Amino acid sequence: MSVGNKKDLVIKDLHKGFIVNNEEIDILTDINLNVAEGEFLSIVGHSGCGKSTLLKIIAGLVDYSVGMVTFGGGEIRKPGTDRGMVFQEHRLLPWLTVTENIDFGLYNITKEQKEAIIAEHIELVGLKGFENAYPHQLSGGMAQRAAMARALVNKPQVLLLDEPFGALDALTRIMMQKEILRIWKKEKMTMILVTHDIDEAIYLGDRVVVMSSRPGKIRKILPVELERPRDRSNVEFANIRKVIFSEFFADEKQYLDYAI
Ligand SMILES: Nc1ncnc2c1ncn2[C@@H]1O[C@H](COP(=O)(O)OP(=O)(O)OP(=O)(O)O)[C@@H](O)[C@H]1O
Ligand SMILES: [Mg+2]
Repeated sequence: MSVGNKKDLVIKDLHKGFIVNNEEIDILTDINLNVAEGEFLSIVGHSGCGKSTLLKIIAGLVDYSVGMVTFGGGEIRKPGTDRGMVFQEHRLLPWLTVTENIDFGLYNITKEQKEAIIAEHIELVGLKGFENAYPHQLSGGMAQRAAMARALVNKPQVLLLDEPFGALDALTRIMMQKEILRIWKKEKMTMILVTHDIDEAIYLGDRVVVMSSRPGKIRKILPVELERPRDRSNVEFANIRKVIFSEFFADEKQYLDYAI
């Protein structure tokens, strides 16, 4: 995780606007961020502050004209197998089984290697026994596991997670957080997680980026130097939560109303 590593993701002076009714609206501005190889970075921010747009720019799904985004020194301008993305909704194709959905996302592989790689990833996300199930036969958590396998199957060096557990119940969500940590440790990849859940951001991240809105900016970056697995009831955990909450609501000056 050393700074200056070849596979760092570097965002420099990024600005993004969208044209709405012939007018350019600033969505993201002055985004400067270095994500080290192998780092787990969490991003929190109010709805509409541009978190998904930022992830999509890193994924190469959304273009930008001001600033520079590079991975391993190379400019990001389009999607690539070095970056995988998991969306809030699982986006599995309903007419394909788990195996076929994962196969659908697989590139640059011979027929012989395919079977073993799909089986390895089904095992990695804990879906063994459900290879032939269709999405409607899966629970929300299982469908997200399948979506994760599809994003991981090309062995990306960066995994982008956009609110991947947003639609899950609280207990499944906690289980999935543990699972994502297990996968991160095993695969040793860079992960960038967007979440509305401040505890989730602290539980998982090496650092937590707090964004402010209109236009989206980086307000603060907080390092989380707690040993893993982290204890949410720990005093230091609570202190970091408090700082993030105060940053999160600083614009509205409503922090005391939301304090927990
Ligand atoms: N393709 C687009 N064209 C025009 N405006 C867009 C486009 N995509 C996003 N926006 C606008 O950009 C802003 C940021 O959207 P984005 O989806 O990045 O927010 P977000 O932080 O991910 O929000 P949420 O937490 O609700 O998912 C919003 O105001 C949205 O309306
Ligand atoms: Mg979003």
